[in-house]
Amino acid sequence: MGLSLKPVSDAIGVEALDIDLNRPIAAADAQALRNALAKHLLLIIRDQSFSPEQFVKAASVFGEPVRQHQSTLLMSGCEDIAVLDSRRAPILPSGKVNTVGSVIWHTDHTNDPQPPSVTCLYGVEMPKNGGGDTGFANMQKAFEKLPKDRQDALMAFKTVNTFRNRRDCITDDDLAKLERESVHPLIRTHPITGKKSIYVHWNQMDRLEEQEPEPSRKFIRELLDNTIVPDIIYRHKWCKGDFLLVDNAGAMHKGMRDYQHTETRILHRVILKGGVPYQ
Ligand SMILES: [Fe+2]
Repeated sequence: MGLSLKPVSDAIGVEALDIDLNRPIAAADAQALRNALAKHLLLIIRDQSFSPEQFVKAASVFGEPVRQHQSTLLMSGCEDIAVLDSRRAPILPSGKVNTVGSVIWHTDHTNDPQPPSVTCLYGVEMPKNGGGDTGFANMQKAFEKLPKDRQDALMAFKTVNTFRNRRDCITDDDLAKLERESVHPLIRTHPITGKKSIYVHWNQMDRLEEQEPEPSRKFIRELLDNTIVPDIIYRHKWCKGDFLLVDNAGAMHKGMRDYQHTETRILHRVILKGGVPYQ
């Protein structure tokens, strides 16, 4: 086939053209797609038409699907898929709608000792009045832009992560499984490219190791505010049939929440098995 790749921004992301992942893919092309994802941290393949099973099969070209932690989101009959549906946004005890998708820059499932290598998203339905964009940030560039002494200082930090702080989002049964703490380096090395990146999920981080929660969270908030600048960001405007893969070791993402949650927006999500993050 010969792969045709087109960058989508100077910051992050590449589009692979003229691919139908419902058709058999040559081993060399599959490897080229995996290489493109590791290098560009975001891979976009448009105009796909997947049944749930076909989506899981397409995602499996990039790794092994693993179970996601919010059981209420899992698709009945195809539990490798989480259904991110704006119509199912839960109401919090405060009475506010907990819109699906984190509004904070993050990488997925850091509460897990082996967080997913890749998050795969498939666009099923988008708000009819526009919006529903997802932002992607190149956290390798965020790290590279820092002065050397700041880089060296950040290398010393570890984050302590748990789902405990997000108990509003999950059932008591899920929480019992997810309360455990996982410790990760704040600066991690990509297992394929060897590049270093800032690696954290602010909402799932309880504290920096050997520090108190409140100053830890303030520290990380300021770090992200100062390093996630426009020239490391790409903002994706979804079309139905878009298949996006984001490399969780090198990139962060967030839902832009630029639409009325009463409008229908549906993404299907699969996550792929990852290794233990290391520095
Ligand atoms: Fe996410």
